[in-house]
Amino acid sequence: MEIPVDLGYGARPSELRQWDREFLWHPFTYLQEWLSPEFEIPVIARGEGAYLFDAEGRRLIDGNASIWCNVHGHGHPKIVAAVREQLERFAHSSFLGFSHPPGILLARRLIEEHLGKWGFRRVFFSESGSNGIEAALRMALQWQILSGHPERRRFVAFRRSYHGDSLGANSVTGLAAFKAFLGQSGYPVVWLDDPGQLEEIEGAESIAGLILEPVIAGAAAMVPWPDGTLTRCREWCDRHGGLFVHDEVFTGFGRTGKMFGFEHEACPADILVLGKALSGGVGPLSATVVTDRVFAPFARAESIEQNFLYGHSYAGHAVACAGGLACLDVFAEEQVVSRLAGPIAALTESLAELAQRPGIKEVRQRGFAAAVEVVEEPGTTAQTNYGRIQGRRVTRECWRLGLAARSIGNSVIVVLPLCATEDVVREAVRIIGEANERIGDS
Ligand SMILES: Cc1ncc(COP(=O)(O)O)c(C=O)c1O
Repeated sequence: MEIPVDLGYGARPSELRQWDREFLWHPFTYLQEWLSPEFEIPVIARGEGAYLFDAEGRRLIDGNASIWCNVHGHGHPKIVAAVREQLERFAHSSFLGFSHPPGILLARRLIEEHLGKWGFRRVFFSESGSNGIEAALRMALQWQILSGHPERRRFVAFRRSYHGDSLGANSVTGLAAFKAFLGQSGYPVVWLDDPGQLEEIEGAESIAGLILEPVIAGAAAMVPWPDGTLTRCREWCDRHGGLFVHDEVFTGFGRTGKMFGFEHEACPADILVLGKALSGGVGPLSATVVTDRVFAPFARAESIEQNFLYGHSYAGHAVACAGGLACLDVFAEEQVVSRLAGPIAALTESLAELAQRPGIKEVRQRGFAAAVEVVEEPGTTAQTNYGRIQGRRVTRECWRLGLAARSIGNSVIVVLPLCATEDVVREAVRIIGEANERIGDS
């Protein structure tokens, strides 16, 4: 029997699941499982703080922070009010040759309150992390041309990386799972496994830039970089004339325990890309932020072609920018980053306990980003039997137990909204342990 939950839209959960199976194709989703009639498609009806509520009214911890975008929780009154107010003024105009108050104010606050002290001066808005990265790569290439180095056409990137799905962003993405069928298309890349290989790069004079996700490789299932990685890359770029690009689409806005990941080594880039949490988790928005040195030759450009001819219809979306302004208010007013020390410690403690249990291969954590790698079931791999691999089965069980988790391979990701309390953190980790044991016993 269906419990009546107000889903809006005058639809019942069973109808919605049926229409979903019939009409939709979801991103990064294993279709064999999704389309099978036994699979209960997770339908989200509502969000509140660190929780999501499904179509049956079940409360779930948002264990993936809504694909790493949510920071202050669902329905934060300040963010909701700001979004509503902007929506009533206008939702979207254009950032191509026009401007608007929330865009201007968000850029100003990002620079004046957070990034100016690290040498950043200009904000270029796009509408997704991938496009923010794409903009950064194109800026780097064009900057090299405008600076008299058209021969600098290659990028240095790490094999353990994910930087997005557009062809350009994908070409600097190293993880094989995200490059299926594409191979190496887009920009030419020199691949490194770790920063120790920087000195082995041949033809450094043809490098336009180096791209790195600071502190932790998120989509590699939360693999931390060795301390000193940023400084090492910065030094190499300075010595060889490449621009240093930081992808903080995931690590930005408190995720690693500091407002931005690069602050751990006090080592800023020439181009910084922000996304996901930038809008407060309410709408698509990213920012490619540059120093004066990067901006200068574009500002001096005489021909239209020398300008940066790039941008999409929804770039600098006004409602998303309004969400971003309110998001920065909440960071300041609620002292979110310093208050995070407690939940981070609770995460470390509960992961350490979980790591002692059978069936757990490894736990990894940096700040408020973590993963629990479970022991692989013999004979099942993501390549041969994705639906049966332990990580997938554990996340499905987590759902039943009250945690909306997502796995990458056999790693269950623990990325909670920053507003999650210590109790919520402990409960999320406890559920992963219980789910893994239940699957192990079944
Ligand atoms: C580090 C990093 N860069 C870029 C992206 C791409 O962002 P988007 O999915 O908004 O295009 C992601 C998405 O997960 C990411 O984690």
